[in-house]
Amino acid sequence: MPKPIRIAIDGPAASGKSTSARLLAKKLGYLHIDTGSMYRAATLAVIKNNLKPTDEANILPLLSSTTIELKTENGNLRVFLDAKDVSDSLRTPEIDHNISQFSALQGVRQLMVDKQRELARNGGIVMDGRDIGTVVLPGAELKVFLIASLEERAARRLKELSQKGIEADFEIVKQEIARRDHIDSARTSGPLKKAKDARELDTSRLSIEEQVEHLFQWAMEIIDSKNQDCK
Ligand code: DC
Repeated sequence: MPKPIRIAIDGPAASGKSTSARLLAKKLGYLHIDTGSMYRAATLAVIKNNLKPTDEANILPLLSSTTIELKTENGNLRVFLDAKDVSDSLRTPEIDHNISQFSALQGVRQLMVDKQRELARNGGIVMDGRDIGTVVLPGAELKVFLIASLEERAARRLKELSQKGIEADFEIVKQEIARRDHIDSARTSGPLKKAKDARELDTSRLSIEEQVEHLFQWAMEIIDSKNQDCK
């Protein structure tokens, strides 16, 4: 039997990573780890404790006494911060505004990367984020880099916010996404970057179903070739 593969999906903010990764994992019967939600839960802890997102000296002790767990319930990922379900409080403008500075901290990234590698230890995983193909799982059998135009990404984010009853302005959402991409790409530790061996997919004009179908075909090619090798 071939070992289940590891799939790394990276890309800029609102490029459709988490939704595609969740649906792809479901289709393959794999575990889905949305690493952005881990950084989001940690940022929530920082905000709740009135710390600045750059205050590494106080953030690291806080994180070592905080637990972040991901659980799949009815096909949906739920995120628990110190055993409390915070899934519905993670995609707020306040977290969006603080998260990139927080996640640029070297010590924070080391903690997160260690935890993510541990979660991926047995394979059979779809993990999405910014540094999965480059840092967390450089040996992943399938690496994908999703892109989409800034306009399209801002429109998706606005829709997501409005579904949660959060009113937002298109131009401000667009600026916030561009700002986040800039900080995520410019940081020295684990920047947002396409791995050399990643396949790129532009999702600007694709529906979620089409996106997932592309990824599924790519995954099956690799899984089938591993099956051939085992015969
Ligand atoms: O995927 P997302 O938009 O939920 O991610 C939120 C932020 O978390 C993103 O702007 C940067 C950070 N992040 C990161 O630095 N590394 C990851 N692997 C995932 C997310």
